[in-house]
Amino acid sequence: MTKADDRLIVALDFPDSSAALELVDNLDDLISFYKIGMQLYFAEGNTIVETIKKRGKKIFLDLKINDIPETVARAVESVARLDVDFLTLFTNAGQIKAARAILTQTNSPLKLLNVTVLTSETSDFSAVAARAELSLEAGAHGLICSGYETAELRARFGDSAILVNPGIRPASASADDQVRIVTPSQALAAGASNLVIGRPITKAADPRAATLQILTEMQATRRG
Ligand code: C5P
Repeated sequence: MTKADDRLIVALDFPDSSAALELVDNLDDLISFYKIGMQLYFAEGNTIVETIKKRGKKIFLDLKINDIPETVARAVESVARLDVDFLTLFTNAGQIKAARAILTQTNSPLKLLNVTVLTSETSDFSAVAARAELSLEAGAHGLICSGYETAELRARFGDSAILVNPGIRPASASADDQVRIVTPSQALAAGASNLVIGRPITKAADPRAATLQILTEMQATRRG
């Protein structure tokens, strides 16, 4: 039996909680980590976060926060009270430092992931590396990055950085609007800590079968 592997984070990109919870219940024994993004969060707020947490799942709140440092820090303080596991920022060094200071003060285990470059956009590695360095030096625990950059980022920043890859497509799935895509095996072999996968599961005719196929591929992969 393939069992829950919290390296796989399923993106709950749904308009409301009933569609999201239907998937969470369908995948209950297979998936222990979910990403809630702006679409679902702005529709359902903290209630959906709390409901999924009560089912014993980990939560990645993907809000890509950016504002002045004080406002970012206060937003992060509010999110930390929700007891979620990962939060995205899409911001700069001053904001990350302020956010990290709040987490230290409140002794929060929340992990901050800064976005380097959106995976829907093309980019050269030097731009990604510069964003990565700035983010980690300022105190981000990790990065959202493409599978194409992961091996080099892992080599450069070491084992402690959390490297989360969206833009993952099993070989058989459609690319949708993702540009810089890799397979689950390629992402893990490159050194990704976690994979975020949405539509290959949420839009599959059989989401359980699609999930099982991905988990099987992941379990067969060793880090390269
Ligand atoms: O493409 P997929 O449905 O697997 O996307 C999963 C997550 O990856 C989305 O919730 C989004 O945050 C992120 N994404 C991305 N770049 C895109 C499309 C989605 O980073 N072009």
